[in-house]
Formats: sequence, C-alpha cells, structure tokens
Amino acid sequence: AYVIALPCVDVKDRSCVDECPVDCIYEGRRALYIHPDECVDCGACEPVCPVEAICFEDDVPAEWGDHTASNADFFAAV
Ligand code: SF4
Ligand code: F3S
Repeated sequence: AYVIALPCVDVKDRSCVDECPVDCIYEGRRALYIHPDECVDCGACEPVCPVEAICFEDDVPAEWGDHTASNADFFAAV
C-alpha cells in the first residue's frame, strides 16, 4: 500500500483525496491516512501531493520515522 508520511502533517492539502478511485484516504487530526487494506496501489495519489508526502510503503525515507506503522495504528484505533 501507499502511505502518507510526515510532510502531510499540518498541511492536509487534500488533493490526494480527489484522486483516489477507491476513497481509501481518511482524515486524521493533523494528517491524512491511507487505509493499508483498501489501497489498490494505483499510485494516482502520489504525484498530486504538493509536498510529496505520499510514498510506496517500502520507499518512505527512514528519517521520517515509521509511517507505515503509524498509519496502521490510526486504523487500529478507529
Ligand atoms: Fe488511493 Fe491509489 Fe493512492 Fe492507494 S495508491 S491511496 S488506491 S489513489
Ligand atoms: Fe496530505 Fe498531500 Fe494529501 S498534503 S492531504 S498527502 S495531497
């Protein structure tokens, strides 16, 4: 799945939401989150984010922390 990482925090541009064909991008308090089981890996959201917050899960820069895990935690809590 794709994940939304650190640059989205407090930006929340939402361009990605309009691009997602399966509506699997959900709003959190400070950032948006991609549901890891609903994402179909189409990649449509990735180029539209103005702050390049969206990466394939294996490509998230390590210095941004473990956003794959924090995405999963977000959905575990709801
Ligand atoms: Fe939605 Fe496709 Fe982005 Fe996954 S990769 S969140 S399915 S637009
Ligand atoms: Fe966030 Fe970028 Fe989407 S800032 S809301 S991931 S377009």
